[in-house]
Amino acid sequence: MPRLNPANDRARSARQYSPLDRALMRLQQGLGQPPALPHSATPYPAAELPQAALSESARRRAAGLMRVNHAGEVSAQALYHGQALVARDAKVREHLLRAAAEERQHLQWCERRLGELKDQPSLLSPLWYAGSFAIGAAAGLAGDRWNLGFVEETERQVVAHLDEHLGQLPKDDARSRAIVTAMKADEARHGDEAAAAGARQLPGIVKRVMSLVSSVMKFGAYRI
Ligand SMILES: [Fe+2]
Ligand SMILES: [Fe+2]
Repeated sequence: MPRLNPANDRARSARQYSPLDRALMRLQQGLGQPPALPHSATPYPAAELPQAALSESARRRAAGLMRVNHAGEVSAQALYHGQALVARDAKVREHLLRAAAEERQHLQWCERRLGELKDQPSLLSPLWYAGSFAIGAAAGLAGDRWNLGFVEETERQVVAHLDEHLGQLPKDDARSRAIVTAMKADEARHGDEAAAAGARQLPGIVKRVMSLVSSVMKFGAYRI
């Protein structure tokens, strides 16, 4: 099996940013985010793993799932940005923007994996961003502890979703699986941090609506 050269991976880390990356970075700067985490701080989780020769159906399957994950990371950033915009406490705002910076790294991993799979992100990314930003801002207006409760529940649902993907990705696709596994660990930590910061438990009906909205996004992003 061919292995990627780590030097090449470092070179790719210093890659040109996509228009979406640049727009997100500008928005984060506008929101007063602390300096973004350096890209090299979180190496690409798939860097040292073999590039499996996938069948066409397995490639399409993996690409569809990674496109859903990419859309999820677009939405995660948008939620955090919307929530940060209306957060009242400076510490809560910083917490949200730091998590958003980590979600941007996840987005870059997914985008890179999609390129390796000869596929592309969802064409509906602007829609996922705009809709999620509005939802995040609306949730944030309820107050900081509800804001953190929304983060905790979102991340809990994302961890469950990533677990599902680990069951659905082709067994041979070690690179996609490594990315999803690393994201899952970060999302669990985001949820734990929100809980530790004083998150309130959301009402069951809100959790069900959140789950319904994310199902619509998963359905759309897998196909478009
Ligand atoms: Fe993420
Ligand atoms: Fe997260």
